Amino acid sequence: MITIVVAMGLNNEIGADNQMPWHLPKDLKHFKEITSEHPIIMGRKTYESIGKPLPNRTNIVISRRKDWFEEGILIVGSVKEAVKFAKKIDENVFIIGGGNIYEQTLELTDRLEVTLVKTELKADTFFPKISPKIWDKTNEICHEKDEHNEFDFCFQTYERKVKLT
Ligand SMILES: NC(=O)c1ccc[n+]([C@@H]2O[C@H](COP(=O)([O-])OP(=O)(O)OC[C@H]3O[C@@H](n4cnc5c(N)ncnc54)[C@H](OP(=O)(O)O)[C@@H]3O)[C@@H](O)[C@H]2O)c1
Repeated sequence: MITIVVAMGLNNEIGADNQMPWHLPKDLKHFKEITSEHPIIMGRKTYESIGKPLPNRTNIVISRRKDWFEEGILIVGSVKEAVKFAKKIDENVFIIGGGNIYEQTLELTDRLEVTLVKTELKADTFFPKISPKIWDKTNEICHEKDEHNEFDFCFQTYERKVKLT
């Protein structure tokens, strides 16, 4: 099972200046609960925006750089290699961004765990359109903004209608 985890605004915006454009601790907790103890796959830019390996998960980072080394992560040269390594570790694999990697992996993905943030923000990175022809929304839990979480948001699960073989 390959799952994409993403937080996006109402226009599919996911990032600006290599950062997430909002601060939602409840979403970070949700992300941690979903991905802990499983391999996570990300692009080099997302890794650099996080700045360190995420604990209790095998961090697999995709890059074309040949001379790059970082303690605590597995660096691979392609999406295919990333998925191959991750599947050897665990049957549940999580793809955590960013835009470039989401675009290349959406077609390989069985499930989407989306946090829909109820705002429209200036962004330079976007998630591809979630086509209702391909994806079924199977769950949605919404939360209102509070003193720590600056926007209303919904946790949504989408399942691929026609399973991948
Ligand atoms: N809202 C969310 O849920 C969420 C989640 C994650 C990230 N983000 C945001 O997304 C933005 C980053 O996304 P991005 O699209 O700019 O970058 P990205 O997808 O994180 O990383 C792109 C990099 O990955 C490597 N790469 C991509 N495809 C490859 C391939 N086929 N083979 C080998 N290497 C490959 C390249 O690294 P090299 O240049 O090293 O070769 C490329 O520059 C940031 O703003 C971040 O905050 C948001």
